[in-house]
Amino acid sequence: MKKSLVFAANWKMNQAPADATAFMRTFVGQYTRQQDRRVLFFPSAVSLHVVVGAIKERGDLEAGVQNIHWEDKGAFTGETSGTLARSAGARHALIGHSERRHVFGETDEETGKKVVAAIRAGLTPTICVGETLAQREAAETLAVVRRQLRAAVSGVEAASVASAIVAYEPVWAIGTGKNATPADASAVHVALRAELREIAGERGGAVPILYGGSVNRSNVDALLAAAEVGGVLVGGASLDAEQWLAIVRT
Ligand code: 13P
Repeated sequence: MKKSLVFAANWKMNQAPADATAFMRTFVGQYTRQQDRRVLFFPSAVSLHVVVGAIKERGDLEAGVQNIHWEDKGAFTGETSGTLARSAGARHALIGHSERRHVFGETDEETGKKVVAAIRAGLTPTICVGETLAQREAAETLAVVRRQLRAAVSGVEAASVASAIVAYEPVWAIGTGKNATPADASAVHVALRAELREIAGERGGAVPILYGGSVNRSNVDALLAAAEVGGVLVGGASLDAEQWLAIVRT
């Protein structure tokens, strides 16, 4: 059976509104809907409106934010809440991206609160998990990703977990050009799938588990062919419309 795939572009702190406009013009003009795939865009909050405007006629293209605060509103200068993001047209939110965890010190407990807030706001959380190189070398990979996943969903019902997305992004593979082999990725995805089934029962079997970390047009096919890899979360290679088109058409 052919898998239904999710392709998610994380633009990180790139693509000003003008860049996003040019990108989306090229992308939307050239990409025709494909039954078996969904394409998600995670622009910077300042370019969200551009992406939302460009995809509004397209059910196969969706937009989200890269982070949210766990409160809905209030005196949190510099932050964006799930409810604000939703009202601006977002349908998704990345939660616990490794740069949030490792550059900004986000904790497991905070990711859990953000997942609760995302669901409360009507956003689909993409829960990001992944080990550092030191953790991999210490054979802690599976323990780390299981702990991160459990903490992220600790405050929500099984039904909400069943409608989430999970992304495995080994920290050592992000932006480094070193990607996990399909077999390495698959071993972690299989463990995450087992965990999701334990948490959400049968419905945990349908949660997409994406792989991220130096994905590009040359390695995407092999990664997507691996067991339990249900899509990709792409940083650098999603910034160029032609390259992103090549990836989503793979
Ligand atoms: P790169 O594709 O640039 O390695 O980034 C991966 C990532 O962090 C996507 O969220």
